[in-house]
Amino acid sequence: MVIQRILKKHGIKLLFLFLIFGGGAYLLGTDAKYVGYSPDQPIPFSHKIHAGELQIDCQFCHANVEKSAQAGIPDTATCMKCHESVASDSPNIQFIRQSYSQGIPLRWRKVYDLPDHARFTHKVHIARGFECSRCHGEVQNMDKVELHPDFTMGWCVNCHRENTMQTEKPGNNNSVHLTECGTCHY
Ligand code: HEC
Ligand code: HEC
Ligand code: HEC
Ligand code: HEC
Ligand code: HEC
Repeated sequence: MVIQRILKKHGIKLLFLFLIFGGGAYLLGTDAKYVGYSPDQPIPFSHKIHAGELQIDCQFCHANVEKSAQAGIPDTATCMKCHESVASDSPNIQFIRQSYSQGIPLRWRKVYDLPDHARFTHKVHIARGFECSRCHGEVQNMDKVELHPDFTMGWCVNCHRENTMQTEKPGNNNSVHLTECGTCHY
């Protein structure tokens, strides 16, 4: 077979070509700095336990999500509502207790963080009825929050484009132009 002969003679070169083009396509197609991003936290807080097994409502902890741009991260007082008594002898809970009694906030590391030139607000998206999972994935199944793999400008614009077609029909007085640069950029 011709192919076999070419492979035998040029196999290594072809492998390099494949790696260069394949790797390039991978980097262009996905934003490598984001894929699977999931930083370690000061203590291992599990959404799977709290939002999954215990079924605590997202908004019990992310209380601002309906009314402002930011969803907000709960302070340690919120944790102490339960952990005053629950698992209070665990070293991780003692760490929270210490943070609480000394008034020093835990330094949670951001998972989702848009660059300064981009603008986003939760309020309008929640009012529009989008579920948290639409943008953040199934957080209630995650021990450790992991960035949604599609988190790029193209992903925002695609959804805005779909919704423009629905909202800018005649008779619908939605005046926000969802795909214009200035909607999402300062
Ligand atoms: C509504 C009650 C409630 C709230 C609020 C709550 N937790 Fe928990 N948490 C629990 C329960 C119940 C468990 C499971 C305890 C067990 O398995 O023994 C748990 C388990 C944990 C554990 C694992 C405990 C261990 O064994 O080390 C950590 C860490 C933890 N929570 C951190 C937090 C943090 C941080 C907050 C605030 C952001 C918080 N929790 C808020 C109820 C709560
Ligand atoms: C008991 C409190 C609690 C509940 C309930 C809870 N969260 Fe969280 N959430 C936290 C804490 C604390 C952090 C910061 C630590 C971390 O990233 O794990 C966080 C972080 C996050 C982040 C990442 C924020 C960032 O840094 O970019 C997302 C997204 C998120 N939560 C979504 C949800 C969703 C969706 C639900 C409901 C399914 C939910 N959370 C329920 C306490 C909670
Ligand atoms: C339309 C997409 C979208 C939906 C729906 C959405 N989020 Fe977000 N979320 C984002 C984006 C984008 C960011 C990053 C914002 C930034 O960096 O300014 C973010 C950031 C966060 C953060 C980090 C802290 C903060 O205040 O920005 C938390 C926590 C969070 N979201 C929780 C939630 C919860 C809980 C829900 C559902 C009630 C939800 N989100 C629904 C897109 C979404
Ligand atoms: C799941 C679909 C969806 C995704 C994903 C999404 N958006 Fe939106 N967004 C909408 C819709 C629909 C509106 C219009 C809401 C309304 O006015 O009722 C909107 C409105 C907005 C507005 C407010 C415009 C205004 O002034 O009222 C901004 C800003 C925005 N989006 C930014 C973003 C950014 C940045 C991202 C990506 C990080 C994003 N959106 C992802 C559907 C989406
Ligand atoms: C629906 C919201 C949305 C719209 C509309 C939008 N952008 Fe963006 N854009 C973003 C977000 C979010 C980011 C940051 C994405 C990231 O960090 O991966 C971004 C990133 C960028 C970047 C920086 C890329 C980089 O590597 O940091 C440029 C340049 C840019 N946008 C230009 C534009 C121009 C020009 C338009 C109009 C034709 C536009 N954007 C329309 C949301 C939007």
